Amino acid sequence: MADTELRQRKAKDNDGKANESAKVRTRTSEDDNLGSIRLDILRVLTFLFVASCGLSYVISSGESFFWGMHNKPYYLKPEWWKAKFGGPIYLTPDELSQYNGYEEGKPLYLAVNGTIFDVSNGLHMYGVGGSYHFFAGRDASRAYVSGCFEEDLTPDMRGLEEMYLPIDDPETDSKWTTAEMKELKEQELAEASERVYNGLKHWVDFFTNSPKYQMVGYVKREEGWLEKLPTPVLCKSAQQKRKKRVPRDQQ
Ligand code: HEM
Repeated sequence: MADTELRQRKAKDNDGKANESAKVRTRTSEDDNLGSIRLDILRVLTFLFVASCGLSYVISSGESFFWGMHNKPYYLKPEWWKAKFGGPIYLTPDELSQYNGYEEGKPLYLAVNGTIFDVSNGLHMYGVGGSYHFFAGRDASRAYVSGCFEEDLTPDMRGLEEMYLPIDDPETDSKWTTAEMKELKEQELAEASERVYNGLKHWVDFFTNSPKYQMVGYVKREEGWLEKLPTPVLCKSAQQKRKKRVPRDQQ
């Protein structure tokens, strides 16, 4: 009886020890697992940090390791993503004027033919002090065609085809009959209008297709805005560039 009890107690003791050592083994392997998970997380974070620094360095052309570059590419700007997925923005001319580079933190916008482009990547040209700063914060379509950067900072294109029309000269023009001259003038006007159209289109295409710039929206104007403006006159330098009609016998 006593012998059996002793054996049972021994067996129990053995079981207890086995359980204890199993528990210790489990704890050790849990600790090992936790340690290796922590190490994995550290490795991933280190990799992400180094990759981010490298990417920032490459994208900023060596300017910054920490995404702190001055001239961020368009895809790193919230406005670009907003314009891409949030649809185009609509700004009145007054609102557009706030994006002319004077307000810190705001992107640089300009408009051509009513379409607004983000030209922040052309800071050295359109920013304050830049050679084309006068285009920033406004739609100066007329100046893009006329080249008159002081008088023509307006979207009003009325009458601009005149810059491509020949100057009337009684002596030269006397070689045409009145009816012929009427027809000739209609043809000249059509050609001049097409040149103005193409001149403006050139710049719209330029900004639309430039990898540096991004179309962001449109200028919102009140109805009848054009008629409310004073009729523009042809700027001085464009007027001076006009030539007489080519004589009939030389056409
Ligand atoms: C109708 C006449 C003109 C218009 C509308 C015009 C417009 C422009 C615009 C919008 C840009 C900026 C392009 C960009 O964003 O990359 C530019 C750049 C430039 N333009 Fe003109 N331009 C005209 C005439 C001229 C003339 C006559 C000259 C030379 C005498 C000239 C010299 C330049 C130069 C050197 C640049 C580069 C500026 C820089 O990188 O800082 N442009 N032009």
